Amino acid sequence: MDLYGTLRPLFFRLDPETAHNLAFWLGERLCSWPRLPEPAHRAGLRRSVFGLDFPTPLGLAAGLDKGATLLPLWKALGFGHVEIGTVTPRPQPGNPRPRLFRFPQAGLILNRMGFNSEGAEVVTARLRHRPAGLIVGGNLGKNKETPEAQALEDYRAAYRLIAPRVDYIALNVSSPNTPGLRNLQAPEALRPLLAGMLDLRKEMGLELQPLLLKLAPDLATEDLDAIVEVAVTSGISGLIATNTTLDREVVTEPLRALVEAKGAGGLSGVPLKPKAREVRRRILSALHGRLPLVACGGLGSAEDVQGALDDGAALAQIYSALIFEGPVLVKRIHQGLRQI
Ligand SMILES: Cc1cc2nc3c(=O)[nH]c(=O)nc-3n(C[C@H](O)[C@H](O)[C@H](O)COP(=O)(O)O)c2cc1C
Repeated sequence: MDLYGTLRPLFFRLDPETAHNLAFWLGERLCSWPRLPEPAHRAGLRRSVFGLDFPTPLGLAAGLDKGATLLPLWKALGFGHVEIGTVTPRPQPGNPRPRLFRFPQAGLILNRMGFNSEGAEVVTARLRHRPAGLIVGGNLGKNKETPEAQALEDYRAAYRLIAPRVDYIALNVSSPNTPGLRNLQAPEALRPLLAGMLDLRKEMGLELQPLLLKLAPDLATEDLDAIVEVAVTSGISGLIATNTTLDREVVTEPLRALVEAKGAGGLSGVPLKPKAREVRRRILSALHGRLPLVACGGLGSAEDVQGALDDGAALAQIYSALIFEGPVLVKRIHQGLRQI
């Protein structure tokens, strides 16, 4: 795992997407090694959530392994679960580059990837080969050209292919980079969406498979309460909070000007931490324990993860911190969680 330490200066000199592609190229080579290490440091952290047995509460958030290409590696690093995707039903290229920006001085990432996806068929085929001992979630989205009114059909099309091959499904209605997507969080849009997905789940005989909803951190307090009620009464299995934020106020000057100069997109990493936690606490208080919550957004240490679990979250996911700190972060968080 020191490989990342050695390569990190190179990765951070490269354009972020080139660095990402290089890391994945290397990762794919590592995945074909016959003997990847067993992640011993996650021992003793097992927990059962929505009927699934998670080896550790720590997972990899959606968006990094969109196509499920590095599953054996995530397991070897020690993640208990990986959320693949966002997968759209049909392939699409995402937004034009540049669309990914790092600010290492602040532990911040700005992205407007816009659901670059190989499409559900390709990803489904890849999911035929999954390592044991790793929970895999499928995060689903709609294609950019699909009108909002037909969003349900897109989620259903992706679900039909992906759901039989994963352990849980997350509906992503919170990416800021697909125009109109976040409107699906409004109760009047959310109700039929969740009902339509739960009907399909039943039709496919997958009633026992958890169906989660991933929310944005940019919702007003009253809206959050209403969304929680829709989620609970619909009968879905849990919530994930949060996705990236559009709020530039989470960054202070002089960095804010640099971030704004890069244009549109969602912010993640350290600056998102307080906002994501506030939103999660609000959701947890509205939930009253009726559904499990997966914490995400700005988590980067054992203390952050333990703080989220102490707040009442059942699981935690990371993304940005892994980019800045490297794979050793998973072990460090596990060791810290055990000490705490
Ligand atoms: C480059 C990038 C791409 C992302 N793509 C997705 C995505 O496709 N679907 C999704 O639900 N979340 C996506 N996310 C959001 C993350 O899953 C996570 O919710 C967010 O980054 C906050 O966590 P963090 O602060 O630990 O990074 C993406 C984040 C980044 C940085």
